Amino acid sequence: TVGKSTNILWHDCPIGQPERQKLLNQKGCVVWITGLSGSGKSTLACALSRELHSRGHLTYVLDGDNVRHGLNKDLSFKAEDRAENIRRVGEVAKLFADAGLICITSLISPYRSDRSACRELLPNPSFIEVFLNVPLALCEARDPKGLYKLARAGKIKGFTGIDDPYEPPSDCEIVIQCKVGECPSPKSMADQVVSYLEANGFLQ
Ligand code: PPS
Repeated sequence: TVGKSTNILWHDCPIGQPERQKLLNQKGCVVWITGLSGSGKSTLACALSRELHSRGHLTYVLDGDNVRHGLNKDLSFKAEDRAENIRRVGEVAKLFADAGLICITSLISPYRSDRSACRELLPNPSFIEVFLNVPLALCEARDPKGLYKLARAGKIKGFTGIDDPYEPPSDCEIVIQCKVGECPSPKSMADQVVSYLEANGFLQ
């Protein structure tokens, strides 16, 4: 029994992850970017995707906002729906990694337990957690979508960092620090991740 499914058996194909990885000259993995709304997760995800693409690597970005337009459009922002949002994206990311791609996710993923459940889905060390550490005050000052303003006015309930918690990672692979007046450019943030991928044998 797997979840609610009974009488199901795993079926293996002769062409598996090793064959695909050889073809693509890279190791499939998940780069999981977490951080507050407005921290620049999507910008980093796209900069990283562009950088890797220009070096001949196949990537795919799963962006929280975008996935909520389709696969996860039935989910709200209450804790159990966020957990399901992250679980589904974790499972999809796992499939992309198995396909041999460097899958980059950009979701707030505010709860530690949800992120560690996704880590558990992947073989070590293929889950690379990147904490985009931008202070709330800076995210709020940026407020690119005007959502912090609405949350402060009580027009959005349960907004991360305002009246819903964000649990920062305590032990992740990469931390990108950003302070007022001292934020690395998207390209240099992406380079930090690319260096990690190179040093750890994900890019051949
Ligand atoms: S989560 O917590 O991981 O399930 O969130 P995610 O799927 O990444 O979606 C975050 C984007 O949704 C918008 N939004 C909210 N964010 C946080 N809290 C609440 N209540 C909320 N309502 C809407 C917001 O635009 C987030 O986008 P980013 O890109 O993170 O700013």
